[in-house]
Amino acid sequence: MKAIKRNLFGSVALSLSILLTACGGGSETSADPDGQSDTPDESTDNEEVVEITYSSGYDATGTIQEILDAFMEQNPNIKVEYQEMPADTGAQHDQYVTALSSQSSEVDVFAVDVIWPAEFAQAGYGLELDRFIERDDIDMNEYFPGTAQAGNVNGRQFAMPTFTDAGLLYYRSDIIDEAPSTWDELIEMASEFQGVEGTDFGYLLQSNQYEGLVVNATEFIAAYGGEVIDENGDVTINSPEAIKGIEKLAEIVQSDFVPGDILRFTEVETANNFTQGRSIFARNWPYMQSMANGEESEVAGKVDFAMLPSGDAGSASGLGGWMTMINRYSENPEAAWELVKFLTGPEGQKINAIHGNRAPTLEALYEDEEVREASSMFANEEFVETLQNAVPRPITPIYPVISDIMQIELSRVLAGESTPEEAVVSMEEKMNAAIAE
Ligand code: GLC
Repeated sequence: MKAIKRNLFGSVALSLSILLTACGGGSETSADPDGQSDTPDESTDNEEVVEITYSSGYDATGTIQEILDAFMEQNPNIKVEYQEMPADTGAQHDQYVTALSSQSSEVDVFAVDVIWPAEFAQAGYGLELDRFIERDDIDMNEYFPGTAQAGNVNGRQFAMPTFTDAGLLYYRSDIIDEAPSTWDELIEMASEFQGVEGTDFGYLLQSNQYEGLVVNATEFIAAYGGEVIDENGDVTINSPEAIKGIEKLAEIVQSDFVPGDILRFTEVETANNFTQGRSIFARNWPYMQSMANGEESEVAGKVDFAMLPSGDAGSASGLGGWMTMINRYSENPEAAWELVKFLTGPEGQKINAIHGNRAPTLEALYEDEEVREASSMFANEEFVETLQNAVPRPITPIYPVISDIMQIELSRVLAGESTPEEAVVSMEEKMNAAIAE
């Protein structure tokens, strides 16, 4: 399902400018046209309240506002307006591209998916952060290396790691004693236990035509020993291993133990159905742990997690996560940076870990007692290892094109319109053509 493109920023622009006029001015600093000025604005040094806008995707855990409130309490001269974006990362991406390609300054700070920094930096949407990082002595070595690298484009840091993600298997611990270790075992158990304790389904995953499908497929392809694009940038999707992975994904999606409308499932439907007690197993990101044990969950205390099952080549968890960027056209880069520092520093990440069950990118937080107590995940060594070994999606500035090709071809297989063999041939052809352009 392709996202409808809407320019959300238009309405915010209006309300913000009315507010600023009403306050008698607003920021005295003007936009630095190339965004790379050496003299950051001084808006946070005087009494004036600076208004900035932060945007990020729909937050099912409700933690973001909490982080922003904590930030505003510490920074009474910065007011942050929170603008929530859709849950679907592809829909968010398209809205940012629309707004930022027309140099809109309405959003100052925004959350970026790990797959975007290369593209966004190249398109000139992000403010380079090195001068702030150096000035404020931020040590990038304190972050998990992969997460810091994801925001580094040609040696320059454009995005700061906020939290990291890895695909996990959730299961009903009141029904299942031990998680399956292979995908074939999962298939057996899902059909055997479907229906127990009023469940309707054996397994839930993300197979709608969107980014989440690419992650789920990447996990299957890697678990069976395949790869989409190798480290030299060569397209390697047309392999027996990749075919086997896609076959296993299709077998599950076409089984009787998943919902009839599984082709519409994203993380949102997965979490809703799982927390309503409708499924034995589900694949989702770490944050579902906080929802599964939250107030509105019908399965609180009856859920455990495990690494995803193995294929022929082992267990593979897809790497996800979010970073924070400053809009290059922000009129308040200094205040924006203060927010970035808070969101991606120990305080913001800790709130995100404790209340949102989002995995920190700062290694030291895994030793923090409060973080460890808040979630069994963060005290679990296997989980921390999984985070560090998670399989990335192809890293390329044309990632959106590669992702679209995969979404289309994989959806056709899952809908029974083509075979995995046909799909890998087609993906290989289209990817090579896109790269050659
Ligand atoms: C999660 C991941 C992100 C991924 C998305 C797919 O938000 O953190 O990296 O692209 O899911 O739906």
